[in-house]
Amino acid sequence: MTQIKATKLTDTYTLSNGLKIPVLGFGTFEAADGQEAYQSTLWALKHGYRHIDTAAAYGNEESVGRAIKDSGVAREDLFVTTKLWNTEHNYDKAKVALASSLKKLQLDYLDLYLIHWPNPQSVREEFGEDGWKSNNADIWKYFEEAYDAGLVKSIGVSNFLIKHLEELKKTAKILPMVNQIRLTPSDQQEELVKYDNENNILNEAYSPLERNGFNNNEAVLNIGTKYNKTVQQVLLRWSLEKGFLPLPKSTHEQYIQSNTDVFDFELSQEDTALLDGLSGTAGAHNDPDTATF
Ligand SMILES: NC(=O)c1ccc[n+]([C@@H]2O[C@H](COP(=O)([O-])OP(=O)(O)OC[C@H]3O[C@@H](n4cnc5c(N)ncnc54)[C@H](OP(=O)(O)O)[C@@H]3O)[C@@H](O)[C@H]2O)c1
Repeated sequence: MTQIKATKLTDTYTLSNGLKIPVLGFGTFEAADGQEAYQSTLWALKHGYRHIDTAAAYGNEESVGRAIKDSGVAREDLFVTTKLWNTEHNYDKAKVALASSLKKLQLDYLDLYLIHWPNPQSVREEFGEDGWKSNNADIWKYFEEAYDAGLVKSIGVSNFLIKHLEELKKTAKILPMVNQIRLTPSDQQEELVKYDNENNILNEAYSPLERNGFNNNEAVLNIGTKYNKTVQQVLLRWSLEKGFLPLPKSTHEQYIQSNTDVFDFELSQEDTALLDGLSGTAGAHNDPDTATF
């Protein structure tokens, strides 16, 4: 993975297989299926985003797909990610799930397909505490086949911890190219980030705006004032300067647009240190081994 200092929305990182991925993506979690997801995706594409992040679990793939189609943006200029949900955790189900996602999105191929969570509650209940090990190996086998068949241009994981990645490595022929995890100044997951970097796995940052949890934080507000930027723009800049790939979500055109305006300033070392110091002051990721879904 080559890490660059991004200067515009369409700048790219390069994944371990050579695929280019735009440095900032548009999140769609909780964008309701129908008009909301459709309109916000359309706005995102209008304002220059070329990377869209959805998931089967978000229930909005059809609306996202319709917006992609209606936008008129050429398929080869887009990067589209979706994710395999927890209820589809075996080889056969993964195959059906990918076909269903492609159909809903009206696409012939995905740019990135992710295992959404490494250790769903249903897998724990059915196969016991260590069930996730063979379970993920089984799914990954299908991911590799889909990759070889050209149905997906890259494959990766989400919410995987080091132990899940180490286990997957034992049977994988192709290593994950991406790990999509919660990353903000409040939850920096340093060891995992380091591991991913050392293993050529790109860190995608979900909930990069801290789900608005820093909106009233004086330190972040002061930094924003200094650069004439919003709290959200400061958080996105922090994410990019760490070499992460942030995926901000919004359903408001004004926010969708302003979240792209993050390429004309650089945080000083002092301000980066202030943001780094906010660890544990807002939200944190769910433990994938105990999450109740
Ligand atoms: N892999 C996973 O398990 C996982 C988990 C969570 C998220 N994700 C991905 O990451 C994406 C982003 O994460 P997220 O949706 O949890 O949270 P987020 O992007 O950190 O925050 C979204 C919230 O911020 C608000 N917002 C956005 N821009 C704003 C602005 N400029 N000013 C004020 N408010 C603003 C949005 O409001 P409005 O929508 O009302 O505009 C929404 O309430 C998701 O959509 C999804 O694609 C992945």
